[in-house]
Amino acid sequence: MPRSLKIVVGIILSPVIIALLIPVLILHTLVRIVRKFWHFPMPEFMAPLIDNKYRHKYVQPPGEMAIRHGISPGMHVLEVGPGNATYTIASSKQVGPTGKITAIDIEPKMIERVKNRLDAEGIENVDAMVADVYALPFPDKSIDLCYMMMVIGEIPDPRKAVREIYRVLKPGGLLTFTEILIDPDYPLRSTLIRKFTTLGFEVKEIIGGFFHYTIIFRKTI
Ligand SMILES: C[S@@+](CC[C@H](N)C(=O)[O-])C[C@H]1O[C@@H](n2cnc3c(N)ncnc32)[C@H](O)[C@@H]1O
Repeated sequence: MPRSLKIVVGIILSPVIIALLIPVLILHTLVRIVRKFWHFPMPEFMAPLIDNKYRHKYVQPPGEMAIRHGISPGMHVLEVGPGNATYTIASSKQVGPTGKITAIDIEPKMIERVKNRLDAEGIENVDAMVADVYALPFPDKSIDLCYMMMVIGEIPDPRKAVREIYRVLKPGGLLTFTEILIDPDYPLRSTLIRKFTTLGFEVKEIIGGFFHYTIIFRKTI
C-alpha cells in the first residue's frame, strides 16, 4: 500500500478507533471504582472467558508464564486462584514428577472446574482444594513458591493474605504476582512493593512493565 494511502486510511480510522476505545475505558474505570468498594471473587462462569486462545498465544503463554514465575523442577508450589487451570497445568509440567502443585480457591465451583480438568487431562501432581488464602491449611515453612495471577487485587486485605503466605513459605521461598492492566482489579507494582516489603519480603526480580508485569518477592528470613 502506498504511503499516502496509508496516511489517508490512518486519518479515517483514527476517530473510529478512538470512538471504540472511549466506552471501553469508561466501563473499565466504572468497574474499577465499584470494585474499590465492593470486593467479591470472580464468578466461576468467567473462568473460560478470561482463559482464551488469544491470551495463551499473544499475552501470557502458559509454559512461558510457569518459567517466568520462577518455578523449577521438584518444587512444591502453591497457586492461589487457579481459574480455569491452564496455568496450573503448565506449572505442573514445570515442576515435573518430583514436584507438586497445590491449587486453592475460595470458590467451590472453581475448584470443581479445576478438578474436572485435571482428571480429564490425567494430571497427577496437582492437588486442588477449597481454601481461603487468609487461612491456608498447610504447615509452616512447607512451600517453595506461591504464585497468584490476577488475584491479589481481588482480595480485600492483601496484607493479611501475604502474612499467611509468609507463614507457609520456606525461608528464601518465592512469592510471585502477575498482573495485567485490563483486569479491573489491577494493582500498581509500586503498591505491591510498598505493602509487602514491610512483611518480610524483598523484591528479587521484576519482569515486564506497566501494562503486564510479574514481581517475584523473596522471603528474607
Ligand atoms: C481473576 S481470577 C484469576 C484466575 C486465574 N489465576 C487466571 O489468571 O486466569 C481470581 C481467583 O481468585 C479467587 N479468590 C478470590 N479471593 C480468594 C481468597 N480469599 N482465597 C482464595 N482464592 C480467592 C477467586 O475465586 C478467583 O477464582
